[in-house]
Amino acid sequence: MKITFTEGSKSEIVGFMVDEGGKLPSAAEALDKETGGLLTEASASGRFSGKSGQQAFVVLPKGSSAKRAALIGAGKVKDRDDRAWERIGASTYKAHANSGFKSLDLHIDDPQNAARAALGAKLAAYRFDNYRTKMKAEDKPSLSAINFITTDSKTAKTAFKPLDAGADGTYLARDLVNLPPNDLYPASYAAKIEDLAEHGLEIEILGEKELAKLGMHSMLGVGQGSVKESKLGIMRWMGGKEGDAPVALVGKGVCFDTGGISLKPGAGMEDMRGDMGGSAAVVGAMLALAKRKAKANVVGLVGLVENMPDGDAIRPGDILTSASGQTIEVQNTDAEGRLVLCDVLWYAQEHYKPAAIVDLATLTGAIVIGLGHHHAGLFTNDDKLAGQLTDAGLAEGERVWRLPLGSEYDRQLKSKFADMRNIGGRAAGSITAAQFLQRFIKKGQTWAHLDIAGVAWVEGEKAPTDPSWASGFGPRLLDRWIADNYEG
Ligand code: BES
Ligand code: ZN
Ligand code: ZN
Repeated sequence: MKITFTEGSKSEIVGFMVDEGGKLPSAAEALDKETGGLLTEASASGRFSGKSGQQAFVVLPKGSSAKRAALIGAGKVKDRDDRAWERIGASTYKAHANSGFKSLDLHIDDPQNAARAALGAKLAAYRFDNYRTKMKAEDKPSLSAINFITTDSKTAKTAFKPLDAGADGTYLARDLVNLPPNDLYPASYAAKIEDLAEHGLEIEILGEKELAKLGMHSMLGVGQGSVKESKLGIMRWMGGKEGDAPVALVGKGVCFDTGGISLKPGAGMEDMRGDMGGSAAVVGAMLALAKRKAKANVVGLVGLVENMPDGDAIRPGDILTSASGQTIEVQNTDAEGRLVLCDVLWYAQEHYKPAAIVDLATLTGAIVIGLGHHHAGLFTNDDKLAGQLTDAGLAEGERVWRLPLGSEYDRQLKSKFADMRNIGGRAAGSITAAQFLQRFIKKGQTWAHLDIAGVAWVEGEKAPTDPSWASGFGPRLLDRWIADNYEG
């Protein structure tokens, strides 16, 4: 999708925003006159009243400057926040995507608002058709260019640049989550991460030999039942001051989670292709940071494994020794994400002494029960960080909701045989998972964990900005958090 900003029109379809009440905007007056009042008539006919989500279309007479006009219901002016602008861009794209026309102009005077609408249009235009070989031309979107007509196209372009970088991060995260597990496994994933070097990221990939040397036997245990080699992917963006401690972003990258010997039920297991959603958020965020040349030091670390049942797989009852030296009794091989993260979190602290760590993981089914599909679970040892992440999530529409941590919950992890067990019983499953991770956070280390199991993908009816199975949750939240708190 090509997005441009100009001060004049050039497309086949021309769109005008209409406030609730139905009054035509001044930008539409000339065309309305030229067509003998066709736009006024459309704005006052049928149920169209300018309510958010409504659209009315006008076929323009021969010789007009465009072929079609669209009146786009933009709702009440007072409700028009960034989300609403994104929705205006997204629903305009969606309404004309398969119209047969290639280009559309949308009049939005304010350049900042035009940039937000452009982000919405770009998010809505995402497709994942790589695996379809029989798509007919008429099933593919025709609309390939949206031009925003604003009072100041230069300002709009500048405002769109970082938003565009964020959207590129979202696109990458969506692609990674959507990819099937036969094509996205630790080594192929690591190769995709290596490709990001072209954007200026420093990449390092560690394989099983190196991970064993580092004592990461908890993470290695998870990958032990798979023929695919486990990998640790490291991405560095050092755009900040030299010597400033970096922020660390850590992601769960379970490319497929069968549950292992504690096998998951068959129905719906295919969704576990998305169990690398936390890592996709981190990789997408790193791309966004590099694309907008963020003035911050950030390191992304993703633990890439496949959780399979096999003669050599870990068993319930096995005791693993983590890189931190702490031992873990595996009582359920399906609670594998924490076994991966605990070693990657330890590695991040040992090698980078981060100013703050945020980890993201599709960690528990319990968070889907608790928060559904509209908030990620937030767990943190730092109230300030809680506020920062909550604000960044609200600003970008990737919301998080804080849940508690506490020693009462931690006690549920006691093991008869080892330093801890990897499950905490039925009660408070998302909290005990977070408690498990906290056992690998050093004293004084600022840390937050986002359980994104409910938001990484969503089945069924979705927002126009979120058109695919994979939502691509995370990159824009992380990018915004870094922009607002680590860049001067
Ligand atoms: N990947 C799953 C969590 C998950 C469930 C993500 C549903 C997305 C949708 C995770 O590895 C898992 O299986 N967790 C178990 C933990 C339990 C065994 C303590 C769960 O949530 O059931
Ligand atoms: Zn699992
Ligand atoms: Zn999992």
